[in-house]
Amino acid sequence: MFHQHRRKYFFGIGIGFLVLSVAIFYLLFSRPAQGAVSIDSVFPNAPWAKPLPNLPPLAGVGEVRAENCGKCHTEIYAEWKTSTHANALSDLQFQSELSKSSSPRWLCLNCHTPVANQRETLVNYLQNGDYRTPIEEPNPNFDPKMKAEAVTCAVCHVRLDEQGRSYVLGANGKTNPPHPIKIDPDKLRNRCLDCHNANYVLDDQLVCAFKTGNELEQQGNSHGKLACGSCHMGEVQRKFVKSELNTPVRTAHKHSFIGGGVPKKFDLYEKQIPGGYRTGLNIQPIEWKKIGNNLEYSVSFKNEKAAHNIPTGDPERFLLLKAFVLDTKGEKVFSKEIKFGQEWEWYPKARLVSDTRILPGETKIWKENILVTDKTPSKLVFEIYHVRLKEANAEHMRKNSISVSNNLKDKISHIENHYPFSSLIHKEEIDLNLRKNKVYSPEELIRISKTRKGE
Ligand code: HEC
Ligand code: HEC
Ligand code: HEC
Ligand code: HEC
Ligand code: HEC
Repeated sequence: MFHQHRRKYFFGIGIGFLVLSVAIFYLLFSRPAQGAVSIDSVFPNAPWAKPLPNLPPLAGVGEVRAENCGKCHTEIYAEWKTSTHANALSDLQFQSELSKSSSPRWLCLNCHTPVANQRETLVNYLQNGDYRTPIEEPNPNFDPKMKAEAVTCAVCHVRLDEQGRSYVLGANGKTNPPHPIKIDPDKLRNRCLDCHNANYVLDDQLVCAFKTGNELEQQGNSHGKLACGSCHMGEVQRKFVKSELNTPVRTAHKHSFIGGGVPKKFDLYEKQIPGGYRTGLNIQPIEWKKIGNNLEYSVSFKNEKAAHNIPTGDPERFLLLKAFVLDTKGEKVFSKEIKFGQEWEWYPKARLVSDTRILPGETKIWKENILVTDKTPSKLVFEIYHVRLKEANAEHMRKNSISVSNNLKDKISHIENHYPFSSLIHKEEIDLNLRKNKVYSPEELIRISKTRKGE
């Protein structure tokens, strides 16, 4: 009882509550806590079980906020700002899920706001070792500005030396920064796996199933040794810092961390192609023939450029393929769709039911034979969507996001106006009479995606 009560206060924390929380905290800890089990013994070797330790101000920089790094690393900062990483806390879907009473907030935040400085409270112990009953302690080093930065620069770049001082982790060397630096390219490049390769069954309903790192590893031979950044941080020749600092042009890396081309806000669509977006699919032109009343088509596409499954990561993502036939008046006379993705059953026990994602190097073929009696088919249209959020889940969010702030509640109740659910990633039109086809360019697809709403 007391425990439940306390937990509520700790989660709904505001400055006012901080005093109360401290009081409760001392009340609890002046006596030895009953059944408190340390996180390290419940989740040994799990990098996502705890945030990074508190990082003190960095010599030559100050607070380790992205905003401060951005004073010199201007272009990198501007790119990172547009990334999903920078939006990992403000993400409307994340906020909605976080507000559920069943949600283990402390755990979710370990990957979405991963540095202790970003946390109002810290969890070092679980009551009875149960992840649902964290023992929250107030954090005197909480930095609200840094909290808003979500997966900020320091998550990958700032660590503590033996004396407990902050330094920057880099991959180059032979540079002369005004801040302390240590060079360890593998450590920096492999940091991605701590969050993107987390497989863990917490209980029957809560399963963390990100296996992008394993998917990549299985590819070892055909792709050689690739890091996530080989594709998600494209190379660019430029200065690491603003030009006033007179440093040379070097091989640098884009920090937009573009993925499947579905950004977190509509105004970020225009950043996708400049940030490095490209689909991993090689899609062959549609093959078709019409014999009498039968129209037959086949579409073939290969996962050529992603060294992991498409889609990867979040289990709810899928590719939606649509084909439809239009008559001479432009009316739909036939339509058909097919999905490629994972199918999970969440109750009574989380279970992967099927997985039709496209493996690296795999080719899928979608073939149909349509009867077009009494119709005059004139056009065959083929589209591929990358779907991140299904309408059914959005509807669930609209109905169940009760304990979020009013501002968020308004946004979530019209989430389709604020949050892209999906993107059109391929479109081809065939004029069946003229035997001509048009394939939409990436720029046209982005333009269309930007104006679409919902699934
Ligand atoms: C006052 C300016 C300034 C600030 C603020 C600053 N840096 Fe730097 N940083 C530099 C300069 C200058 C270099 C060296 C550039 C060169 O030689 O090309 C550098 C280099 C780096 C490198 C590459 C080093 C290598 O050899 O691989 C990284 C990584 C880096 N900074 C990260 C950060 C991070 C993270 C922050 C914020 C916590 C930050 N910097 C804040 C000026 C700054
Ligand atoms: C191990 C680190 C980790 C933990 C813990 C974690 N996440 Fe995430 N989360 C990720 C990563 C990585 C992605 C990006 C995956 C992708 O884009 O496919 C992500 C993406 C998301 C998304 C966006 C999905 C999409 O398709 O756009 C939501 C919402 C989300 N997480 C909610 C949560 C909630 C709620 C919790 C706690 C129950 C949680 N996460 C815990 C790492 C984590
Ligand atoms: C501390 C955890 C963490 C680390 C480390 C991390 N990520 Fe992420 N990443 C996330 C989360 C969380 C999301 C999803 C946020 C959301 O959807 O709200 C994400 C999303 C992404 C996306 C999806 C973009 C999109 O919108 O489709 C890509 C690509 C990505 N990360 C690449 C990387 C790469 C490359 C690295 C290493 C250089 C890396 N990440 C390191 C947590 C992390
Ligand atoms: C998700 C992890 C991640 C985040 C967040 C991140 N970086 Fe990086 N950064 C990397 C990796 C990995 C490299 C090394 C790329 C390589 O050499 O392969 C890198 C390289 C750099 C470099 C060296 C120059 C270059 O482009 O290769 C600088 C400077 C830098 N980052 C600054 C920043 C700043 C400033 C921020 C925040 C605005 C930031 N980084 C955010 C992972 C990250
Ligand atoms: C050989 C290039 C390549 C490598 C290496 C690579 N990716 Fe990707 N990744 C892609 C491409 C291309 C896409 C876009 C796929 C699409 O939607 O067509 C993508 C998409 C993603 C997405 C968005 C989800 C999705 O399915 O669209 C995430 C998250 C992601 N990658 C994470 C990672 C992580 C983490 C690693 C390292 C373990 C990694 N990637 C390594 C090429 C690569």
